[in-house]
Amino acid sequence: MARLESKVALVTGAARGLGAAVCEWMVNEGAMVVGADINSADGKSLADGLGDRASFVELDVTSELSWDSAVSEVTRQFGRIDVLVNNAGVLWIAPVIGSSLDDYHRVVAVNQTGPYLGMRAVLPAMVEAKSGSIVNVSSMNGIRGMPGEAVYSATKHAVIGLTRSVALEVAESGVRVNAVCPGPIDTPMLEEADIGGEEGTAEALKPLVPFKRLATPAEVAEVVGFLASDASSYCSGAEFVVDGAWTSGLSFS
Ligand SMILES: NC(=O)c1ccc[n+]([C@@H]2O[C@H](COP(=O)([O-])OP(=O)(O)OC[C@H]3O[C@@H](n4cnc5c(N)ncnc54)[C@H](O)[C@@H]3O)[C@@H](O)[C@H]2O)c1
Repeated sequence: MARLESKVALVTGAARGLGAAVCEWMVNEGAMVVGADINSADGKSLADGLGDRASFVELDVTSELSWDSAVSEVTRQFGRIDVLVNNAGVLWIAPVIGSSLDDYHRVVAVNQTGPYLGMRAVLPAMVEAKSGSIVNVSSMNGIRGMPGEAVYSATKHAVIGLTRSVALEVAESGVRVNAVCPGPIDTPMLEEADIGGEEGTAEALKPLVPFKRLATPAEVAEVVGFLASDASSYCSGAEFVVDGAWTSGLSFS
């Protein structure tokens, strides 16, 4: 049997990168998947390409109103939400000295407020149904510091704090909440990051990873999918590191 047979999943940041790979994994495993993103053009074409069991809803994860309308729409269409993947995120590379408060607020709004609002929007129905799985995408920078990425790292630490605490708040209901902490994934986010100069981000990062390569989005989607599915029925409040052994002991330099 498919691992997400007949589950209804809402995946944020679904227009590209990891979110798109998670949608594909879930459709292949039998779920009805609603991809959500601020990028409607790419989000819709991704959903069209995944067939009848995928659809798209526009969602700005920083907005309460947007969450209300997206969750109402998915619930109206499918009757419930079994799985929420809080994946939308933005990377911001800037040392704290000289950085802008506006950018700080922007990164916190997407990476930290977004998962908070998402969990708040779906949990009442999940708790009432005594069933549901939430997967929050943190980062390996959510479990250790990274020079030049203090604010990004702080938001990803916050995602773990939210995950652990909310998991306890809803534990008796049977709803599960977990986090995934990826190392570098080969996605547009990294391609667009200003790391490594002319060499490019991927080439600059590879030698630092014990595996000597980046993760594919599909490799990380597999772990997100496991946590979304009943295969992880005794896992909650935990963070799952998917980083090619990077955080197991080596330093960043
Ligand atoms: N790529 C990596 O190396 C890496 C490593 C660790 C963690 N992560 C995390 O994985 C997640 C996905 O990253 P990715 O690499 O696929 O990034 P990406 O930039 O390729 O895709 C992110 C998606 O989020 C969407 N998004 C941004 N702001 C939004 C908002 N306000 N509302 C709704 N959607 C919004 C974008 O439109 C985009 O489609 C992020 O949370 C990121 O922090 C990525």
